[in-house]
Amino acid sequence: LVASLEQVDESYIMVKPDGVQRGFVGEIISRFERKGFKLKGLKLFQCSKELAEEHYKELKAKPFFPKLVDYITSGPVVCMAWEGVGVVASARKLIGSTDPLQAEPGTIRGDLAVQTGRNIIHGSDSPENGKREIALWFNDGELVEWNPAQAPWLR
Ligand code: PPS
Repeated sequence: LVASLEQVDESYIMVKPDGVQRGFVGEIISRFERKGFKLKGLKLFQCSKELAEEHYKELKAKPFFPKLVDYITSGPVVCMAWEGVGVVASARKLIGSTDPLQAEPGTIRGDLAVQTGRNIIHGSDSPENGKREIALWFNDGELVEWNPAQAPWLR
């Protein structure tokens, strides 16, 4: 994935149950804020088996699919919608490789995780999936359109 200089995307980012249990919610949010992306939705959520299966439906045939669904439903997750130029590609760089042992130091998985089946965070793999996943995990009323440039308390 190559970040375009013009395209404003949305990415669905989720702190998985191990990331919540290990206390990484604040650190993960902070990395996206510091990079400069805009938060549009945020909630702590207990995911159902049905929602996990729908989210990962492209992986249904994979041998690890049942384990993946068990993992994602094993405790609360933190669901986030982030917006910005090239956010889908950029988020995947911030997150690092799927296998945390291959992820570079400095990335979220490279710094904080060891196993693929416990890799603490999800990020959408394309702008299309970003839109699909945000629509799947959030209700309309849970997403906020706002303009950080018009925040009067910063002036
Ligand atoms: S694949 O096989 O290339 O389609 O999979 P990949 O794109 O690498 O990963 C897709 C998601 O499946 C998770 N995954 C696994 N979970 C548990 N166990 C194993 N072995 C495993 N392999 C891959 C991986 O973390 C991806 O989930 P997300 O939430 O998108 O990171």
